[in-house]
Amino acid sequence: MSKAIEIVPGIFWVGATDWHRRVFDRFLSLPYGTSYNAYLVRGSQKTVLVDTVARGFEDLLLEKIGRVLDPAGIDYLVMNHAEPDHGGAIPRVMAAAPQARLVTTKRGVEMAGMFYNIPVERCQAVAEGDTLDLGGRTLQFLDTPWLHWPETMSTYCPQEGALFPCDFLGAHLASDKLFADEVGELVMPEAKRYYAAIMMPFASRAVRTLDKLQALDLRIVAPSHGPVHREPRRLLEVQRKWAGGPLEMKVVIIYATMYGSTEALKGAVVGALSARGIETIEYDLGVADLSHVAADLVDARALVVGSPTVLGGPHPLVLSAVETVRILRPPGKTAAVFGSSGWGGGAAAYLKARLESAGYQVLDPVEIKGPPRPADLEAAWALGQQVAERVLGG
Ligand code: FEO
Repeated sequence: MSKAIEIVPGIFWVGATDWHRRVFDRFLSLPYGTSYNAYLVRGSQKTVLVDTVARGFEDLLLEKIGRVLDPAGIDYLVMNHAEPDHGGAIPRVMAAAPQARLVTTKRGVEMAGMFYNIPVERCQAVAEGDTLDLGGRTLQFLDTPWLHWPETMSTYCPQEGALFPCDFLGAHLASDKLFADEVGELVMPEAKRYYAAIMMPFASRAVRTLDKLQALDLRIVAPSHGPVHREPRRLLEVQRKWAGGPLEMKVVIIYATMYGSTEALKGAVVGALSARGIETIEYDLGVADLSHVAADLVDARALVVGSPTVLGGPHPLVLSAVETVRILRPPGKTAAVFGSSGWGGGAAAYLKARLESAGYQVLDPVEIKGPPRPADLEAAWALGQQVAERVLGG
């Protein structure tokens, strides 16, 4: 989308669509690219730019703003979040609008100085409930820290029922359509994958913010990535489920295999779970995208990990996956571990300890030597049955 789009009279999308970006934070794959949404909000007296775009898109942003008004006429730049994918154009905007003040939280003021060399004198710190009167239109600020940085806040325009939550409620999805109802089926799966990788570690903060949003008349949710929601009820419902449950009757199995022994054990575990009617989702870490693993862990009751022992420890792909799970902090806290080795073993005990230190309740592992014999497969089946008992027992 190469031009400014008027969402409601006087509120314009002036963001950038990044069709070609394929990975975020060197972790989250972006098969559909992403967008950096910025919004121009005009009152009868004042004009505000809400967030900016990533570095490299500054010219595009200023060109789009220029189709609505001279950028020098911007009175305030609201920085809901300091991360460079939204703040990258702050120095250019502040230079183009020499009278503008940067409006952000107290911590945001520090970050604006640290990342973008914006002097404190050009900043205006705001806190929960503070407002800006634009003339016939108001912006109100909501303190929403740790979604997903400490300085994050959201901006609300009560006259239009429009919320600008920056990263929160977003999705990495480039499209030639601005509105979620026009983009279609990809929106919710991509919003979930995004939630898993970015917001899941802060689920309790997300619930708190969703509670706060319930008191607002919300007619438009305009995040800083992905489509704008002009019927936001469904989005808010699914976000609440992701952040606060309930969990599904579902188990995620991640594993690596070198000569097929660990994979054979995995088959027995899956068989036991399936026999109890539990959904199983398997990821061979040799080919899996960890962001999809994370998305499935948003509402799975249990995680099962399989690894051969490699040089005394877990297979490096399993190690990496488990460390990723640890930091993303999925809500389902039941886990099981299995694996195989040629001689000494040790991967299963290592993984059990890592998962326990992240709050998981880990069943006694099954670790075998060499190709699985019938008794080994029975042990793996029994492990699957124990997981099933935990899952079915809630
Ligand atoms: Fe989209 Fe936290 O930046």
